[in-house]
Amino acid sequence: MRSIITGTGIGIPTNVVPNAALARIMDTSDEWIRTRSGVEQRYYVDAGQGSSDLGMMAAEAALGAAKRTREEIDAIVFATMTPDFFFPGNGPVVQAKMGFPESTPTFDIRQQCSGFLYGLDLADSLIQSRKYKRLLLIGADVHTPFMPWQNGWGNTVGEVDRDVTPEEYAANTAVRDRTVLFGDGAGAVVMEASDSGDDRGFLAARLYTDGSNIEALYVPGVGFRRRPYVSHEQVEGAEQIPLMEGREVFKMAVVKMPEAVRNVCASQGIETADIDVLIIHQANLRIVEGVAKQLGLPPEKVPHNIERYANTTAGTLPILFHECLADGRIKPGMLVCFTALGSGMHWGAALYRA
Ligand code: ACO
Repeated sequence: MRSIITGTGIGIPTNVVPNAALARIMDTSDEWIRTRSGVEQRYYVDAGQGSSDLGMMAAEAALGAAKRTREEIDAIVFATMTPDFFFPGNGPVVQAKMGFPESTPTFDIRQQCSGFLYGLDLADSLIQSRKYKRLLLIGADVHTPFMPWQNGWGNTVGEVDRDVTPEEYAANTAVRDRTVLFGDGAGAVVMEASDSGDDRGFLAARLYTDGSNIEALYVPGVGFRRRPYVSHEQVEGAEQIPLMEGREVFKMAVVKMPEAVRNVCASQGIETADIDVLIIHQANLRIVEGVAKQLGLPPEKVPHNIERYANTTAGTLPILFHECLADGRIKPGMLVCFTALGSGMHWGAALYRA
């Protein structure tokens, strides 16, 4: 018995934000962002739109593609680091808003950029346990709420049209190394048990965690070691904004993702050269190219869309997978390898026969 993906969908906001829009509110440039990261534009949600809304758009499309009703879905797995509420997670939010019956339990996971990858392995494990036959797996994130919106960020989506003050410009520039890299987006898949006997489906995953350097990429404030867990002092110190040691994370990404890909291939007696399509986390085009080079995979096997979406965290893998299926870059029978690395640090790789 194998877990197969029978439908995919994406949820993308309507506000396109080109690099030039960010250059208007901070000291950055289209040239810097393109050459350092590959990002040309990203999408931002409207005010009041959350990751659950993008996740629902993606989920609705995935259900339609799989031709499944809500009653046919046994459980929902929602991967996000940016839920609508501190608690509960987005699982119950989409369960109720989409009108799933109460017999559909939901699981919330938060492995950040590796969230969808971990979700794939979890969904496959739940199916292999024979407890559930059909799962809806969603990966969605909204990064706009991390941005210091009070400093004229409304310019980026046409909410306001004014020059920022020198103080606002300086404050935005202080977080430019992180803010320019992210966008909002979601993807979803329906995963089902299949005993058709062919070799389609989920083959294996290798997942890893190293929590010894959480500070490489984390949100220092708004946590439950603090009393109270959120305070004016934390907000004034911008402790609700993620901190990232960019170079540290970059170095880890180009070493750990190839390692994970090699390990998952070895576990199946497969050569890395046999991978037809590498669906790799879209954090930086230079990381994508570095990993491809290390694995000896030609560019046509390593698609990317970071130029259009930037890093959508749990959204990158399912959005790219969906686009490659839709335009025929992934065809039936092809060997697909998913890989991601992000905050935790969590990383890994999974093999899937389309
Ligand atoms: N615009 C203009 N200049 C900038 C910007 C910007 N947006 N950001 C930083 N700079 C400046 C820096 O201040 C620095 O200036 P200095 O030399 O005068 O000090 C210079 O550019 C170089 O900065 P570096 O940090 O050395 O640039 P680098 O080439 O390393 O690129 C980047 C930075 C893009 C962040 C890269 O390190 C990276 O992509 N890291 C990995 C990110 C990642 O994979 N994250 C994981 C996923 S996210 C998740 O899990 C939630």
